[in-house]
Amino acid sequence: MQRAAPPDATSPEPTGDVAARGQPVIDLQDVIKDYSTGAGAFRALAGVTLRVEPGELVAIQGRSGCGKSTLLNMITGIDRPTGGDITVADMDLRRASENELARWRGRNIGVVFQFFQLIPTLTVAENIMLPMDFAGLGSPRERRARAAELLELVEMTDQTDKLPLATSGGQQQRIAIARALANDPRVVVADEPTGNLDSTTAAAVFALFGRLADAGRTVVLVTHDAELARQARRVVRMADGRIVDHGTLVGGAGGRGQGVAANA
Ligand SMILES: Nc1ncnc2c1ncn2[C@@H]1O[C@H](COP(=O)(O)OP(=O)(O)OP(=O)(O)O)[C@@H](O)[C@H]1O
Ligand SMILES: [Mg+2]
Repeated sequence: MQRAAPPDATSPEPTGDVAARGQPVIDLQDVIKDYSTGAGAFRALAGVTLRVEPGELVAIQGRSGCGKSTLLNMITGIDRPTGGDITVADMDLRRASENELARWRGRNIGVVFQFFQLIPTLTVAENIMLPMDFAGLGSPRERRARAAELLELVEMTDQTDKLPLATSGGQQQRIAIARALANDPRVVVADEPTGNLDSTTAAAVFALFGRLADAGRTVVLVTHDAELARQARRVVRMADGRIVDHGTLVGGAGGRGQGVAANA
């Protein structure tokens, strides 16, 4: 479906080749992240400015160690920046308390971790219900129904009552994706969400992300898979803790009818 371009009256900056700009749902300004290591501080993000609008599907690419997971941890508020400003889904992440962040994340952000982070003592269905439990969304019956619906979406219905470790790597990945979608978050952030999937399943997961974006959700994912990245509307490239390319206008799922951010 082709969306009409949103009105651009609130656009905060000149937009160059951008067709139309709305209010970003992800807004990072000059973000710096230093890790302290035995050898002193290591700068993992060296001034990252990134804007993503509702309905965009953005793929982040770059070599191992360039700062992709660190960037995602900044967007989700899982880790704090050393410098710069971050606003995501109407929350000023630098000023929010840990409690505020946890509550905000539960309702607005779905995270697919690089290494899944499933709870080994909970069943597949219980893992997916956990975010709804935390956020207090729905009755127990509604949570179970939602979990069943999500498991169907990722073709995992037959694994519902297993423990995660009794499933394959690709199946765990799909459980992690279902869990990330449990609360119907505005922003879905996924770190190599198709890394353990065969190409057919990876394409199905990517199509799912595309549909989320078409429905107005925002999807930011890290992928090494150039073929899948090409299907994203926008590919952001990182090197050495910086964004070296803010987006290439390409066809495909997510952000149709919207512009691509100009270089900062
Ligand atoms: N907790 C930490 N303490 C110190 N250094 C860290 C920490 N986490 C990450 N780093 C360093 O920061 C840099 C960026 O790490 P990050 O995990 O963001 O890379 P990445 O792009 O996600 O890599 P990959 O593709 O391998 O997942 C790397 O050099 C890494 O060694
Ligand atoms: Mg990583």
